[in-house]
Amino acid sequence: AAIVEHTFHVGNLTVERLGQRQVITAVNGQFPGPKVEARNGDTLLVRVVNNSPYNITIHWHGVLQRLSAWADGPAMVTQCPILPGSSYTYRFNVTGQEGTLWWHAHVSFLRATVYGALLIRPRPGVPYPFPAPHAEHTLLLGEWWNASATLVDVERQAFLTGGQPANSVALTINGMPGLSHAHKEMHHLRVARGNTYLLRLVNAALNYQLFFKVAAHNFTVVAVDACYTDPYHTDVIVIAPGQTVDALMHAGAAPGRRYYVAAQVYQSIANATYSATARALLRYDDDAKDAAKTIIMSPRMPALNDSATAQRFYGSLTGLLRDGKPTMPQRVDTRMVVTYGLAIAPCLPAQTLCNRTRGSLAASMNNVSFQLPATMSLLEASRSRSSGVYTRDFPDRPPVMFDFTNAAAVNRNMSLMVTSKGTRVKALRYNETVEVVLQNTAVLGTENHPLHLHGFNFYVLAQGTGNYYYLIRKKKIRKNLVNPQQRNTIAVPPGGWAVIRFTADNPGVWLMHCHLEAHLPFGLAMAFDVQDGATPDAMLPPPPNDYPPC
Ligand code: C2O
Repeated sequence: AAIVEHTFHVGNLTVERLGQRQVITAVNGQFPGPKVEARNGDTLLVRVVNNSPYNITIHWHGVLQRLSAWADGPAMVTQCPILPGSSYTYRFNVTGQEGTLWWHAHVSFLRATVYGALLIRPRPGVPYPFPAPHAEHTLLLGEWWNASATLVDVERQAFLTGGQPANSVALTINGMPGLSHAHKEMHHLRVARGNTYLLRLVNAALNYQLFFKVAAHNFTVVAVDACYTDPYHTDVIVIAPGQTVDALMHAGAAPGRRYYVAAQVYQSIANATYSATARALLRYDDDAKDAAKTIIMSPRMPALNDSATAQRFYGSLTGLLRDGKPTMPQRVDTRMVVTYGLAIAPCLPAQTLCNRTRGSLAASMNNVSFQLPATMSLLEASRSRSSGVYTRDFPDRPPVMFDFTNAAAVNRNMSLMVTSKGTRVKALRYNETVEVVLQNTAVLGTENHPLHLHGFNFYVLAQGTGNYYYLIRKKKIRKNLVNPQQRNTIAVPPGGWAVIRFTADNPGVWLMHCHLEAHLPFGLAMAFDVQDGATPDAMLPPPPNDYPPC
């Protein structure tokens, strides 16, 4: 195993897109940021030097951070931010992990432009569990604003008013919108005829789920969230913010043409109007030199709100068994039911623009609208046994069982909208196995929320639309206990539910939250506080010397 070292200089970068110049926050003067490449078993040392005017942290999305919770990155959860002029070195290993992951800022809305790919290949000499591709292409899907210099302010305003942050003006593929009128702002993928490529897709968008297609080409999905899947053949990939997909693509389309690669918004919410598409251009090595005579083929995209296509994709994935054996824990120690969704919360004293009688738009899990602590990170508070920073009373169940099968029940559901703000976490013993039923209450509109768990991959035993409690009573739920897909981010179906299971074999404090960035300041989050085990190999070491002070 090797040591992979990087230095990330975070600072201002002037970028021109769509005819306007913007000053954005970026790493090493690159947008998107540098690609980090490692092999299973390697140790990463990434020194982050903050030359920007903002507080910064970097999260290694999907890295399990076994016994290295101090390097996970979410601000005020596992660390205080790196202040302007300061630095911090993230040290962690990627043992036992293979596939496409990514890194992003995890403080305010800075991940809008501070993100990049993190690729973990198998150990030297170890093949992929699928036919070896000839080469690979990494495609980071993102968003672009014509107000990027003020993104931090946009978020502050959104939080104070309980409103939505500004919509982006375009989607991007590797930082390029690829709109028809601006071909120079388009990412090009070159392929050799007859070869097979591994596409490594990351959805780094702040707020949008995406459909991804390439005209006249199909995919074989082989991994999601850096967890291998059984090969799944499809012509469309569905990917929520935070998720990654590894897919093989054979370059065998008709010669004499070029092909658009497209990422388009998938809107699960009713009456949605934002319908952006980003494009890249796929070109063959035998491409005619005379571009003017070449026809460019466009993929036929699903409708903006095609939830059936999204559910078919997500519901068809199964996990690849290692040596034919299920790895999922069959025993369950703790069962939780977590309802979540948008809601109304009373104003905080600091919320000057909040409506004092109505409260502000908020979001919650089990009626707790999550607040980050202000004085020290949750992990520091947990390890130093400080009191007054958080409480360990996150409820295992919602106050009423969510049910929309009859009118009286629907009325009771309204109580799920009245939340209280708090920093409440769920304490877990080391190695406890937890099964969580996630139910989207959809009281304030049906929307698909991608929930991301830090520190663990979880098994997805079942998922669907509607009401879990109704369906389980009717015996209509079948859990996959043999080869469920593993993920770190699940796009729970709009107005629907999912059942996930994981083993708490990693001491630390681990955030679970909606990866639609707008919903994090609303409080759509909670955290697990996992205790140390009894032996040294199950204990979190003390924080590194350069751990940022508050
Ligand atoms: Cu990719 Cu908590 O985030």
